[in-house]
Amino acid sequence: MKPFAESCQQNRGPILEVLRVELADRSRLLEIGSGTGQHAVYFGAEFPQLLWQTSDVAEMHGGIQAWLDEAGLANVLAPLTLDVCQDEWPQHSYDAVFSANTAHIMAWSQVECFIRGIGRVLQTGGVFCLYGPFNYNGRYTSESNARFDSWLKSRDPLSGLRDFEALDDLARAAGLVFERDYAMPANNRTLVWSKRS
Ligand SMILES: C[S@@+](CC[C@H](N)C(=O)[O-])C[C@H]1O[C@@H](n2cnc3c(N)ncnc32)[C@H](O)[C@@H]1O
Repeated sequence: MKPFAESCQQNRGPILEVLRVELADRSRLLEIGSGTGQHAVYFGAEFPQLLWQTSDVAEMHGGIQAWLDEAGLANVLAPLTLDVCQDEWPQHSYDAVFSANTAHIMAWSQVECFIRGIGRVLQTGGVFCLYGPFNYNGRYTSESNARFDSWLKSRDPLSGLRDFEALDDLARAAGLVFERDYAMPANNRTLVWSKRS
């Protein structure tokens, strides 16, 4: 049976509006932490010109593949095994990277691998779009995000909402320049960086 995340159903429309701007002229995208695969098939159908490469840790592949098989989209590719710290990153380069709801699930050491790896696989001029809840200057943007962070940490003390400033420090060290910050429903954001050189 295909896995289903209600959150994907709810956030895909607002994310699509951002991706329509950010991915308009892109041709090859790497998604990191594809999860259920719902985003990949929804966005893949909306951007037929874009080769959408899914990836995740191996245990998620069955679910992703089930969504891909049903959708039958030629431009959405079977998942690569990619644990950001443990696996070899693709040899290909991409002109876009997309990831949703991953930075607060990964431990900080994994977030470091994540952004370093993106700096390596992105082509000059490529964009990195990161969706999720974030803090600014160490502060929550809402009570619900504070509660979500406590819940995350009760499950895994190494997880938790990340500070935009700390992510941007990593991004700069990886050769990325911060471009845009989109406010999204339910106190989420989409952060966009580009690779300048
Ligand atoms: C909350 S889910 C989000 C899934 C999907 N992107 C979404 O928005 O519904 C977090 C995802 O991050 C992936 N993930 C966690 N740690 C990872 C790591 N070290 N390397 C790659 N992916 C990881 C998980 O397997 C999972 O698919």
